[in-house]
Amino acid sequence: MENVQSIKQRFELIGNDVKLNRAIEKAIQVAPTDISVLVTGESGVGKESIPKIIHSLSHRKHAKYIAVNCGAIPEGTIDSELFGHEKGAFTGATQTRSGYFEVADGGTIFLDEVGELPLTTQVRLLRVLENGEFLKVGSSQVQKTDVRIVAATNINMFEAIEKEKFREDLYYRLSTVEIHLPPLRDRQEDVHLLFRKFASDFGQKYKMPTIRLEDDAIQLLLRYRWPGNIRQLRNIAEQISVLEEERSISAATLNSYLPDSSGSNLPAVIGQAKKEGDFSNEREILYKVLFDMKSDLNDLKKLTLELLKDNDSNKVQRENEGLIRKIYGNQEQEEDIEHEETPAELLHLPEPVLEPTTPAPLQQPPEDRYHFAEEIEEEETLSLQEKEIELIKKSLERNKGKRKAAAAELGISERTLYRKIKQYDL
Ligand SMILES: Nc1ncnc2c1ncn2[C@@H]1O[C@H](COP(=O)(O)OP(=O)(O)OP(=O)(O)O)[C@@H](O)[C@H]1O
Ligand SMILES: [Mg+2]
Repeated sequence: MENVQSIKQRFELIGNDVKLNRAIEKAIQVAPTDISVLVTGESGVGKESIPKIIHSLSHRKHAKYIAVNCGAIPEGTIDSELFGHEKGAFTGATQTRSGYFEVADGGTIFLDEVGELPLTTQVRLLRVLENGEFLKVGSSQVQKTDVRIVAATNINMFEAIEKEKFREDLYYRLSTVEIHLPPLRDRQEDVHLLFRKFASDFGQKYKMPTIRLEDDAIQLLLRYRWPGNIRQLRNIAEQISVLEEERSISAATLNSYLPDSSGSNLPAVIGQAKKEGDFSNEREILYKVLFDMKSDLNDLKKLTLELLKDNDSNKVQRENEGLIRKIYGNQEQEEDIEHEETPAELLHLPEPVLEPTTPAPLQQPPEDRYHFAEEIEEEETLSLQEKEIELIKKSLERNKGKRKAAAAELGISERTLYRKIKQYDL
């Protein structure tokens, strides 16, 4: 069996992080079997290398390996792409076509962004996973295939299941073994190593001396959150390699390439390169804070309403676990578990409000209590919408129109960004 180090060399994977090594080790162990694997982790952490490792170390290595980006194929054609179609199955189907599951018989299919699969396709996929059977679109003739599935996702699958966007049975089928790749911010030892590797690669590529980070720049590199993970680090190393004449990079220079300091764990260093009076970045941060506050306020309103309607605070807490986690974050949630605080305590609401024997606050229709908040909300929404449009436009500009990178920078999913681009006609 090949070892982790040789696999890292073969697939040009940099880093010595324990969690990265464990993920590669798991891929090596599971490769010779036909077990379905689900690769999880944030955007840009390197999920795409895992199915390649698995395929190349499996008995299927001489058969086909097909990578399918489920999020990029329109809903109307995905069934036909995956399973093929019969002539005349739909307008434009002038010929019978084989799908990936037929073509990859004996090999491996990598279903990237599997969380984006439409529910109808999920049903078909479940059937293939269960007994290798599928139907071409427009056909009633059952076909057989022998395909190993490796899937990947950067979304929270439990949330998707809760929202009924992903079938629970399919999730368990796909994730017989789950391989999780850690975010870059949790790989402190590897961040600078990766940067040096990318800097050296781009120095060679553009035939320029390799850029080097000064000590304070290394510190900034380590404390930045890297929402776009290794992909973002690589892009920044490339931009700096090409654009900076001075090859010794200070923290201020590096900071001017970081999308905005909201990604940093600590207060940002203000870039010296910025013109005096240019508050564009600061304004963006404020807008972002406003959006987050507005969303938190709505969540809090919902939670409070639940508490008022339902006197059982434990029940409300149980049923709104996701919401509470969203509002208070993980840290608070850990404390929450330790102290077993009720949502009322978390919200600093006076306990009597929750007592069934206290009639006054409950007699009033709950909606009335938010009358004021509702009124100001409409005005807010309009101006916030403009700011949101501005934020999206800027992010797209900064990322040269690349939606994936812009979405990562804005902290929203690519699909949400796509929806907003359509909604605002950008
Ligand atoms: N350990 C690593 N060493 C060197 N480069 C890496 C490493 N991990 C990832 N990369 C590079 O980072 C980039 C992003 O990786 P990849 O495309 O696999 O991300 P991903 O997890 O699939 O993200 P997404 O969920 O957005 O699709 C690629 O260019 C990849 O080559
Ligand atoms: Mg990917």
